[in-house]
Amino acid sequence: MKFIKIFSYIVIFICSLYSKETLTSGEQVFRAYCWGCHHQSATAFGPSFKKIANSRTKDQMITHIMAPTSNYKELGYKRTVMPSFSNTLSEKEIDLIIDFINSCKDAK
Ligand code: HEC
Repeated sequence: MKFIKIFSYIVIFICSLYSKETLTSGEQVFRAYCWGCHHQSATAFGPSFKKIANSRTKDQMITHIMAPTSNYKELGYKRTVMPSFSNTLSEKEIDLIIDFINSCKDAK
């Protein structure tokens, strides 16, 4: 029994490493890290990606994702509850998620 327990921990660990490796699309980054609070077009706990894409520059988005406390006032918020992702997301994942947010923009 003990062996099965340890074995399943090892499997879960390897899977988690593997899933980190395979976040190759913005949609995957979104589902893994943002979806609990942001939705594509509806306001959830945080603003929708559509609203963000329509009103913010790429720099504003990156700054807020990396260090929300540094620019929440500039963005018009009284306080910030969004966690920083500076230790979580790689540069590539940041690029992917920015493209994903921008893909939610209203068609012009
Ligand atoms: C725990 C909930 C939570 C999670 C998880 C979260 N956010 Fe947020 N986010 C918020 C809230 C709430 C705001 C509104 C401002 C604030 O509180 O900082 C926000 C604001 C933002 C903004 C700026 C909004 C504006 O008005 O310009 C961006 C960009 C953003 N989030 C992107 C992301 C991305 C990308 C992820 C995933 C990598 C993510 N957020 C994960 C809650 C969250």
